[in-house]
Amino acid sequence: MTAPFDLLIQNGTIVNQDGTGKADIGVIKGNIVEIGDLSTRDAGETIDVTGLHVLPGVIDSQVHFREPGMEHKEDLASGSRAAVMGGVTAVFEMPNTKPLTTDANALADKISRATGRMFCDFAFYFGATAENVDQLPDAERLPGSAGIKMFMGSSTGDLLVDQTEHVRRVLASGRRRVAVHSEEESRLIERMGIRRAGDPSSHPEWRDVEAAVLCTKRLIGLARETNRRVHVLHISTGDEIPILAANKDLITAEATPHHLTLSSDDYERLGTYIQMNPPVRDTSHRDRIWAGISDGTIDVLGSDHAPHTREEKDQPYPESPSGMTGVQTLVPIMLDHVNAGRLSLERFVDLTSHGPNRIFSIAGKGRIANGYDADFTIVDLKAKREITDSWIESKPGWTPYNGKHVTGWPRGTIIRGRRVMWDDEILGEAAGAPVRFQEGWVG
Ligand code: DOR
Repeated sequence: MTAPFDLLIQNGTIVNQDGTGKADIGVIKGNIVEIGDLSTRDAGETIDVTGLHVLPGVIDSQVHFREPGMEHKEDLASGSRAAVMGGVTAVFEMPNTKPLTTDANALADKISRATGRMFCDFAFYFGATAENVDQLPDAERLPGSAGIKMFMGSSTGDLLVDQTEHVRRVLASGRRRVAVHSEEESRLIERMGIRRAGDPSSHPEWRDVEAAVLCTKRLIGLARETNRRVHVLHISTGDEIPILAANKDLITAEATPHHLTLSSDDYERLGTYIQMNPPVRDTSHRDRIWAGISDGTIDVLGSDHAPHTREEKDQPYPESPSGMTGVQTLVPIMLDHVNAGRLSLERFVDLTSHGPNRIFSIAGKGRIANGYDADFTIVDLKAKREITDSWIESKPGWTPYNGKHVTGWPRGTIIRGRRVMWDDEILGEAAGAPVRFQEGWVG
């Protein structure tokens, strides 16, 4: 007699290494134990997902959840509610909080705050500074550490490593892939006068294409010199795509839904609500980032969820902070692109599950395969819905996509065999746990 499953997901179309096809998934103790025709088998809980697609859990490898220090914008609980409502099963959170996540205590503090309060699984980046370089090799192996994040251009918060000697030392300290915000700080300082008061459309003129390209070239040179793997976050220019493509042996890259969906044509409509670092640019850049999605240059999608309150965003440019919500809208926005034929569902899975698994060597997540965590993003590819501010769980309660009609919607979020969201309702307890990494902490 075969043991009953704890959970059986039945009659879905699953997307995995075998292609896209009908299969059932059996789960015991939070792990996938069998995939196939399991229609005669017993289970504690059975979920019939006829007509739906079962994807490996979507991993958002770039979010800012603001806790500690800026909980009026977001906290770990609210950010994680937004994640699971949007079909996201795990997040990597950024170190530009207050205090900054730049020592082991700050990282341990985030994990203890997350435990029992976050609905999705989590890892936290450790921020590199010129002062903490010696700590980095240990820091990247701490429990719950997503590895090292380096800001080469300043954005929200005080993290900055821009001097070549400091960047070189960071890259020479440790082994895991380093995630980098790549905008050339000296050029940003030089060009500050280009900003026009009250006109956020001058934001991409200030933080121009050259600022991103110069920094990415300098970074790649230093990565080669130190033989260190680097992940370039939120690619905003088409010009960087061939540069990245020429260095894929060492360099990986992220694209964001906003750089793939919005363009300079939206500044008039959205004002400061589209203001982001690096900026949303004209359609020629958007088209070439899409080409990087098609040809494989881009490895992952991250939302760069960076919430600010309406009050903060309503200040006149440039007092308005850069950032927009995004963790909850990543899946529906990208499924809409799938339905419009801009990428396949398999490529979406490659970007949001296999990609993070591969480039960050995540242990046990990112595939629907035996032995992996039972993390699933269950989607209705045919659902026609409107994205509205009222659906947003994130504290600021706004999205740049308010009023947008999309085809494709997350219907369920399952994390380690537990149903956490179903049909726009958050269920159960906040039982998120640290993500484990083969090159870091495995637990
Ligand atoms: O626009 C941005 N906002 N870009 C970043 O890199 C940081 C983020 C934030 O934390 O607000």
